Amino acid sequence: MSPFPRHLLAVDDLGRDGIVEVLEVADSFAEVGRRSNPKVPTLRGRAIATLFFEDSTRTRVSFETAAKRLSADVLSFATGSSSVKKGESLRDTVETIEAMGIDAVVVRHPSAGAPAQVARWLDHAAVVNAGDGWHEHPTQALVDLFTVRQALGGGDEGLARIDGLQVAVVGDVRHSRVARSQLAAYHALGAEVTLVAPPTLLPPSLEGWPLVGVSHDLDDVLAKADVVSLLRLQAERGSGSFVPSLREYTAGYGLTLRRASTLRPGALVLHPGPMVRGVEIASDVADLPSSHVTAQVRNGVAVRMAVLFLLLGRERDGEGPRA
Ligand code: CP
Repeated sequence: MSPFPRHLLAVDDLGRDGIVEVLEVADSFAEVGRRSNPKVPTLRGRAIATLFFEDSTRTRVSFETAAKRLSADVLSFATGSSSVKKGESLRDTVETIEAMGIDAVVVRHPSAGAPAQVARWLDHAAVVNAGDGWHEHPTQALVDLFTVRQALGGGDEGLARIDGLQVAVVGDVRHSRVARSQLAAYHALGAEVTLVAPPTLLPPSLEGWPLVGVSHDLDDVLAKADVVSLLRLQAERGSGSFVPSLREYTAGYGLTLRRASTLRPGALVLHPGPMVRGVEIASDVADLPSSHVTAQVRNGVAVRMAVLFLLLGRERDGEGPRA
């Protein structure tokens, strides 16, 4: 098995073995999360900073919860009240944080590639991409895989059932970092992904994407899907101008109650959040037993504990523990 990478910037950094390792370690941490005292001493003495240049609820809170459950010290860097507001550069910001003895930096940034750039600047700290522009959001894809594997029986059985699974990724693919990471992750485990979106919400080129297909007909794809993973219209990236109106978008691509009733028995509905109820998913559908949205959020803590543990909790070949 290849060693776990020094940074987690994209799903392809892990490969199939790395993904499976994260899922298996996350099983142990999910068990820790069910204890009355859901805390372990694994990263005592380590310090982890969350550095978010874009808004977040799930990713930031779950990384900070994960770090605390591993007994790490957590520094929550609020860009709005930092010296970034005075014009300090990203490089100076992250080098300042590293100089304080931080072991890992969890970065969300509106620019694709910013976490990779941060990783090049830092000498010791591990970098985790918590979402960069339209590029990738690798831990969200790992959370989704963990949730699907769990729903399919968990462990080796759940993993085996992902192979050949028909996955529909529906919505604003063009602006979605989650879709890019999901595609890589599902493909690595043998699932077959179909993108469903209006032509305006697909990227200009899909060359090199490991896809089974692209469709503009959600009803057709739903009848064959084992997993339906919905994406929010990214209003903050201008998605509103790519659809005639929200009402027409929902009519064509929203998972309405009528559409949900056409899903195969046992089909899973996922959404990375935040959901906009009534647009890409009907409120009633979000609350159906087939919806695994809350499980995704819950699993976010265990999966991010696994990622932090694998990055920081083990000595690496040829390296001692980080200073
Ligand atoms: N799924 C996701 O990244 O959610 P947040 O933006 O709330 O972190």
